[in-house]
Amino acid sequence: MNSVLVIGSGGREHTICWALAKSKKIDKIYCLPGNGGISEIAECVDIGVMDFDKIVDFVDNHKDITLTVVAPDDPLAAGLVDRLEERGHRAFGPRANAAIIEGSKAFSKYLMKKYGIPTADYEEFNDYEKAVEYLKNAKYPLVVKADGLALGKGVIICNTKEEGLQAAKDMMIDAKFKDAGKTVIVEEFMVGQEVSILSFCDGKTIVPMVNARDHKRAYDNDQGLNTGGMGTFSPSAIYTDEVADEVLHKIILPTVDAMNKEGRTFKGVLYFGLMLTDEGAKVVEYNARFGDPETQVVLPRLKTDLYDIFNAVVDGTLDKINIEWNDLACVCVVMASGGYPESYKKGMEITIGDIDKDVIVFHAGTKLKDGKLYTNGGRVLGVTAMGKDIHEAREKAYKNVKKISFDGAFYRTDIGIKK
Ligand code: AMP
Ligand code: GLY
Repeated sequence: MNSVLVIGSGGREHTICWALAKSKKIDKIYCLPGNGGISEIAECVDIGVMDFDKIVDFVDNHKDITLTVVAPDDPLAAGLVDRLEERGHRAFGPRANAAIIEGSKAFSKYLMKKYGIPTADYEEFNDYEKAVEYLKNAKYPLVVKADGLALGKGVIICNTKEEGLQAAKDMMIDAKFKDAGKTVIVEEFMVGQEVSILSFCDGKTIVPMVNARDHKRAYDNDQGLNTGGMGTFSPSAIYTDEVADEVLHKIILPTVDAMNKEGRTFKGVLYFGLMLTDEGAKVVEYNARFGDPETQVVLPRLKTDLYDIFNAVVDGTLDKINIEWNDLACVCVVMASGGYPESYKKGMEITIGDIDKDVIVFHAGTKLKDGKLYTNGGRVLGVTAMGKDIHEAREKAYKNVKKISFDGAFYRTDIGIKK
């Protein structure tokens, strides 16, 4: 018996479980804690992702588990992979000393500056008075960022001095993001198109996946607050072979090299959030994990067995396998709860009509109770379709979104319209 344990509970984890379920080498998938959709393909285990003692015990007690995949940022940053490895278990994901590339913006900016990796100019502040002095005299717009993990909310684009000072006060004095905002980064505002490049990295070899674009704002035409992501598509025409080549040589390979030189070898999925500016591609952020909802449009295009890739990353043999992708386009439309990304209700019953066979509904915040499905988070579902081009995939995704309903449901209607 060969089982895999996936840690996490969102749309990304549902997609990872779905892709692993296609592997003939796996008999069983466990997901901890999982969600309503995941429970259809995996055994969900009611343990929290930060409850490391219980997680390690669970793996100790299940000899059938040959690999644990740690998907979310928090347990990676807090060292779950290290804990599993110390007990002799195989785990996919970076150790804490490498996950810091996402967990601390101060670290990632330091790394890029030291190794000449293109990114926005910045200043770092631990002292509120110094930040105030800088913000009073700075050029606007600029971006104020909390150093630590803040659920994607710790980035404030400030158009005026008042907004800049407010952001610094919220983070450094009023501790809106708790300890994550004790240190802040003040960054130059970059103008350009954003694209996400996820990559598999075994510490020596790095293999970029097909590109994807996220739609971070809550409403159509990029209006409203920043969210975890309201929809994605892959591939994007703006990411030409020429751009890909520039990114590989100026950003991707130098980052792997920089992490090795710092003694922080990165193994897992390294995510490059890029801005294509007039001066070339620059890094907006690194993530130490699969993106959500980028994963929902990237993994459906993967032809190679994901379990083989995960093992190659753990074993450091990524150079030995050929990773293949299909030529289809993929679009994912996120259906969210009314009010998201601010407060929203949970527990609304979800009805799903007759979904087309080739459309996948990835669950993000759902719960199955007595055979019925209920909302259990801000982002609820990711309706994902493939087609010969983005237009066809988009039409299919939206046709099926209309077959799903729950009280307060909303979604963007423009996913996949931009290039
Ligand atoms: P992050 O969490 O760092 O990816 O930031 C969230 C979003 O804020 C990004 O996807 C960008 O849209 C925007 N953003 C962050 N940093 C900058 C920057 N320096 N210039 C312009 N936009 C930015
Ligand atoms: N979709 C952006 C992220 O996963 O951080």
